[in-house]
Amino acid sequence: MSASSRSTSGGGRLVTLEHPRSPAAEAYRTLRANIRFSSLDRPARTILFTSPGQQEGKTTTLANLAVIAAQAGSRVVAVDCDLRRPALHTVFDVANTGGFTDLLLNEHAQGIPTQDGPIPGLRLLTSGPLPPNPAELLSLDRVDRILELLAQEADLVLLDSPPAAAVADASILASRVDGVVLVIDATRTRREQAQRAKEQLERVKARLLGVVVNRAQLDSSGYRYYR
Ligand SMILES: Nc1ncnc2c1ncn2[C@@H]1O[C@H](COP(=O)(O)OP(=O)(O)O)[C@@H](O)[C@H]1O
Ligand SMILES: [Mg+2]
Repeated sequence: MSASSRSTSGGGRLVTLEHPRSPAAEAYRTLRANIRFSSLDRPARTILFTSPGQQEGKTTTLANLAVIAAQAGSRVVAVDCDLRRPALHTVFDVANTGGFTDLLLNEHAQGIPTQDGPIPGLRLLTSGPLPPNPAELLSLDRVDRILELLAQEADLVLLDSPPAAAVADASILASRVDGVVLVIDATRTRREQAQRAKEQLERVKARLLGVVVNRAQLDSSGYRYYR
């Protein structure tokens, strides 16, 4: 999205909520359609968002997509699986006292500690307290079970993650979800980094649904989507 389309609340990143009729919001609608289209044969219910590096727009893309999908009537859960620099709670301006890691660490946890998002149909599972060993936690068999539970209660489960190039977390999660969206930043991601991230995902047999090129200065939409 172009810088001018950002607003001031919610960390300024929820253009779909603040300006639902803006070209930027429209672009997120197109993104949702593209993602659906790219998985028509086998609809992707659990989708991981990752990018090679930091600050490339993973969280922003996921959060706006979550809003768009909920606005369109889907039941959506956004899950913060970035257990290194979680940001979902900041973007949606909610507490992060409990969340995903509580489920991971506590075998006997009752229910899933989601919080209501800003619109009906959108729920949030923030990171919870940060563990010293994120990759180890994300490797637990229990992750599959948690994803299953979430998918039973939602049409779309969107997972945020740390940079794919820096740590194993995204690769670990990529093999456990239905599909992956790779976000790259037109102004900072280098071609080799993008290529390497793609190869990394292929190695774990992830299903790459598409690539979002964020901050592309094309037109008002601000990104391109490739299959
Ligand atoms: N298309 C965009 N246009 C302008 N600013 C953006 C855009 N996408 C993301 N940002 C800003 O860039 C920063 C990093 O985005 P973020 O989604 O947190 O990246 P990541 O999750 O990959 O670290 C945030 O301050 C966000 O508001
Ligand atoms: Mg992020």
